[in-house]
Amino acid sequence: MNNQRHIIESQQFSPESIIRLFKLALKYEQGEKLKPLEEKIVATLFYEPSTRTRLSFESAVLRLGGKVISTENAKEFSSASKGETIEDTIRVIGGYVDAIVLRHYEVGAAKRASLVSPVPIINAGDGVGQHPTQALLDAYTIYKRFGRLDNLTIQFIGDLANGRTVRSLVYLLSKFPNNRFIFVSPKILRMRDDILEYLVKHRIDFVETEEIQTAGVNVNYITRIQKERFGDNMEAFHTVFGKYVIDNELADKFPVTSIIMHPLPRVNEITVDVDNNQRAVYFQQAKNGLYVRMALLEQVFASKPFLFST
Ligand code: CP
Repeated sequence: MNNQRHIIESQQFSPESIIRLFKLALKYEQGEKLKPLEEKIVATLFYEPSTRTRLSFESAVLRLGGKVISTENAKEFSSASKGETIEDTIRVIGGYVDAIVLRHYEVGAAKRASLVSPVPIINAGDGVGQHPTQALLDAYTIYKRFGRLDNLTIQFIGDLANGRTVRSLVYLLSKFPNNRFIFVSPKILRMRDDILEYLVKHRIDFVETEEIQTAGVNVNYITRIQKERFGDNMEAFHTVFGKYVIDNELADKFPVTSIIMHPLPRVNEITVDVDNNQRAVYFQQAKNGLYVRMALLEQVFASKPFLFST
């Protein structure tokens, strides 16, 4: 990686810098009107669909005084459709803008982009790899509710094999002491070995199960079964689709102080009657993305950033 301020994976941040970032995000949430991106142009280059990530990044840039250029379906509408490599595309766009927010369908695409980019690359999701800015907004949501990111039991439910938000959040929360993970999934969608090996290596407590736990949990983080990752194997998809559904009856069995999170979009895994349950935080979680991304962008362009080690 060159010496630009890239945001590629959750592991790159220190616990101290994460908490400082959240204090900055809180300022923006409370109405801070600074314009640190004046004169800056940011490209949002998305090869996969997005609602929250692309639009919250674009809103964040505009609110910070910057400008945005965008392609929302780069696989079809950029010169990738003519066979241009991601490296060439990034070299070219890097000559037009001051930072690139990149979502791509291949694991490692953001890292590859960062190796050739003349401007900072922000990973907005790389296939089933990582989604570090989602992990930061998820952690911000947890931090605001519990006042800490340690000594928590976090239950992840659903498609853990393909959920890049889950992967990034596990890496991020593993930086804080005494967290415990419960991984709930069908066997074919188990958490991948790289994460499990990381947890074993760092002696972090986890269990794998096929049953949702209702006791002793602080955070319930459910994800969509990612149909688009099954390719033509719809038979396998239909064996797991609908396996985990949180309805209000189940939600009420979780501890009253616990929270229910979802990176969204949801399909059928949380019923709408849960939306008014006091444990449901997923729409606030999505809104938090704006403030966290404002704080991240400020850091990307800061004269003395605390987020990036030199
Ligand atoms: N959570 C998330 O990444 O949502 P989008 O795919 O809509 O950006």
